Amino acid sequence: MELNLRGKVALITGGGQGIGRAIALAFANEGARVAVADKNPATAADVADEINQFGGEAISIQADVTDEAQVRAMVDKVLTEFGQIDILVNNAGTAFHKFFAQSTRKDWDIDINVNLLGAMNCASAVVQHMIDRRYGKIVSIASDAGKIGEARLVTYSAAKAGIIAFSKALAKELGRYGINVNSVSPGTIETPLAMGLLGDNVDQVVKSYAIRRLGKPEDIANAVVFLASDAASFITGQSLSVNGGYSMA
Ligand SMILES: NC(=O)c1ccc[n+]([C@@H]2O[C@H](COP(=O)([O-])OP(=O)(O)OC[C@H]3O[C@@H](n4cnc5c(N)ncnc54)[C@H](O)[C@@H]3O)[C@@H](O)[C@H]2O)c1
Repeated sequence: MELNLRGKVALITGGGQGIGRAIALAFANEGARVAVADKNPATAADVADEINQFGGEAISIQADVTDEAQVRAMVDKVLTEFGQIDILVNNAGTAFHKFFAQSTRKDWDIDINVNLLGAMNCASAVVQHMIDRRYGKIVSIASDAGKIGEARLVTYSAAKAGIIAFSKALAKELGRYGINVNSVSPGTIETPLAMGLLGDNVDQVVKSYAIRRLGKPEDIANAVVFLASDAASFITGQSLSVNGGYSMA
């Protein structure tokens, strides 16, 4: 199977570290030009440099996905530099780890704003361009938490369930324009975000996985690149769990 993405332009939010970084590198490996966006400009620039050094083509952009004006400016910059956007990956995300009873409205706002409304902001900013070109792929990083719910990740679970439903509904609107919309639901992946949440519980968590290891960012990147390729052109509105068999929902 050829996933060759030469000639395509991929925009990845939260691309400066963890899963987003692996996704950016994977697209570059398949020949796509890559826009690495992150609210942290230094890490985004590092990832773009890494890609340019191995002979790929990348730019970095500072953008907070919760800020509509920054998101519009991000999309304009990609269009100015690369002329088109074929692929949007909504990866930027965050999570706090508290029991719901101890959480505050401020905590909930962050989870919903970054994980759900951030993805909507970015999709909204690219969708007309994709409709005009009758081509596009939107892949959003949801979570198994959005399918089965996780304690101490209650509003995060709600936000990720929102991403899954948003992707399905948008897929129904956009399929007629040649646009595929899917989400990927990772289990626990070894990234700064997850390792910070897990603390000393890694061995215990690994036992709940049929495949006895945590995921690697590249496990998610492989699924995202596949869904963003024309090899997956008949797949839309799906949420693909990449979770070592943790949940089979
Ligand atoms: N790591 C896991 O186990 C796991 C599991 C399920 C889902 N996910 C999801 O995968 C995605 C990536 O997670 P990760 O583990 O790589 O996290 P991470 O914290 O290691 O990286 C997240 C990146 O997103 C950026 N970011 C955060 N808020 C942003 C904002 N408002 N605007 C722009 N950029 C922002 C950060 O600067 C960082 O570079 C997230 O959506 C997360 O919810 C992760």
